Amino acid sequence: MYRSHNCGELREAHQNTEVTLSGWVQTVRDKGFVIWADLRDRYGITQLIFDEERSSKEIMDTAKSLGREFVVQVKGTVLERSSKNPNIPTGNVEVLVSEIKILNKSITPPFTIEDQTDGGEDLRMKYRYLDIRRNPVKNNLIFRHKVAMEVRKYLSDQDFIEVETPYLIKSTPEGARDFVVPSRMNQGQFYALPQSPQTFKQLLMVGGMDKYFQIVKCFRDEDLRADRQPEFTQIDCEMAFVEQEDILNVFEGLTKHLLQEIKGITVDKFPRLTYEEAMRKYGNDKPDIRFGMEFGELNAVAQHKDFGIFNEAELVVGIAVPGIASYTRKQLDALVDWVRRPQVGAKGMVYVKYNEDGSFKSTVDKFFDQEDLAKWAEATGAKPGDLICVLSGDANKTRAQLSALRMEMAERLKLRNKEEFAPLWVVDFPLLELDEETGRYHAMHHPFTSPKPGQMELLDTDPGAVKANAYDLVLNGNEIGGGSIRIHDKQIQSTMFKHLGFTPEEAKAQFGFLMDAFQYGAPPHGGLAFGLDRLVAILGGQETIRDFIAFPKNNSGRDVMIDAPAAIDQEQLNELSLKLDLKA
Ligand code: AMO
Repeated sequence: MYRSHNCGELREAHQNTEVTLSGWVQTVRDKGFVIWADLRDRYGITQLIFDEERSSKEIMDTAKSLGREFVVQVKGTVLERSSKNPNIPTGNVEVLVSEIKILNKSITPPFTIEDQTDGGEDLRMKYRYLDIRRNPVKNNLIFRHKVAMEVRKYLSDQDFIEVETPYLIKSTPEGARDFVVPSRMNQGQFYALPQSPQTFKQLLMVGGMDKYFQIVKCFRDEDLRADRQPEFTQIDCEMAFVEQEDILNVFEGLTKHLLQEIKGITVDKFPRLTYEEAMRKYGNDKPDIRFGMEFGELNAVAQHKDFGIFNEAELVVGIAVPGIASYTRKQLDALVDWVRRPQVGAKGMVYVKYNEDGSFKSTVDKFFDQEDLAKWAEATGAKPGDLICVLSGDANKTRAQLSALRMEMAERLKLRNKEEFAPLWVVDFPLLELDEETGRYHAMHHPFTSPKPGQMELLDTDPGAVKANAYDLVLNGNEIGGGSIRIHDKQIQSTMFKHLGFTPEEAKAQFGFLMDAFQYGAPPHGGLAFGLDRLVAILGGQETIRDFIAFPKNNSGRDVMIDAPAAIDQEQLNELSLKLDLKA
């Protein structure tokens, strides 16, 4: 028996019992006649004591030879500690070792395996198995497990069935590039790894499965960010015989259940914003609504004066940043520089100090008097002490720039409270999105999303205006889920493909199987998918999903631990009939 207890378990009540523990040596403090070692496992840390008076010479010698991360098994007696450590649950006791066995040695680890480590990101990724021994990473993985368990429990209780769908498939477009896998048995042909199980879950509805879910890996070859990985996990769901309202209710229920069970937080009915409202109020389709700073449109009160920049702009829009009217000239200049950075891209910024005495001081006092500026304050909801920041120009670009400023100021003013959770639905997304480079429309969500009732006709005349039965779940400024009511009619689906620029042959080659299936009594259906990594990270109070994935890729999409991707043998290439031309 390797252990009678784990390293997080012993308390004063265990005093004078004989125990066996196994684990890793975290630290050794050698005072000559007494040696203390901290023994760690997944459950915690227990202090071991070796002492010349009570331990044999052989045991003292072994204790002296211990190094960091050695794996040992000890037998001993639980004693009350003379100097207690209130910071750990086992801090009142220690184990006086009577037998010790080194199960495995360790070379010196490349970084300290403690909560605060000296290891940089790259090093920790390369030795991820050591990083996982550290509490912050280990606890994130345990947290992820708990969330996944609660998801399974909730959905099973609601009669959802978890069904696995294949990984070696044909392209399912979700807006990214596919990862492809060459087939040895079908030379010159490739599988695509699923960007999502979208088409399969729809086929399960045709198959009568009715309520499906799957916690499933998805693969997308796209540029990485803090909230994106090339392989990530979805809680993928689909239901038949439902309308949008039914789906929003079920998954609002799931999200509430998770907030309750995992965070102990009760949330009321989630607010709903249309895509258009979200863009107008927050300049963003995934607004963080934990704090105000809603946009105030100022065209009516800021145009038709002598200020040319505003007069020429499609949109003049501002926010009231709370409590920073007292910023110094230097701080304000820095803020203007911030919005002019290429990443934000504003040409400049007009600002108005709403002084505590009720007066206004702006960068455009030449053009606007106190009465004008009072109207700006009203439109932006500014109060004395606030700074009104105003941007202008092309409507879409200006909204995006002001949204970036809004988020930055919320971050700087610490308004993004990690322990507060503000979910909302964004609904009525446009069906199509114009690709400015190619001038072509493509599906904003995916090509299987159904337009809102009565909008099909608009496709010919004003495609950009067609609204979809599509929705996103947003939590604290992050898109954690998205879905739609699907097209379940063959004719409508093929019309949709036509509008997306597919020839009938291309549509048949890529999605013929789905349209065929629609001929055999496809029920009305719809669903959504949550990003599990994102959901877990946000519930855990963070936004970097890498920290919640056991073996993540770095920003270049590499696994630096196993060194992948990597070249393959010529023999393997031959078998697959692949010829590389890396110059091309
Ligand atoms: P969508 O593409 O919106 O929808 O994806 C659903 C959710 O998955 C998460 N997500 C990601 N997480 C980490 N890394 C990525 N690269 C990544 N890409 C997406 C997001 C997102 O909200 N088939 C549809 C769902 C449906 O219509 O039912 C789909 O995949 O949190």
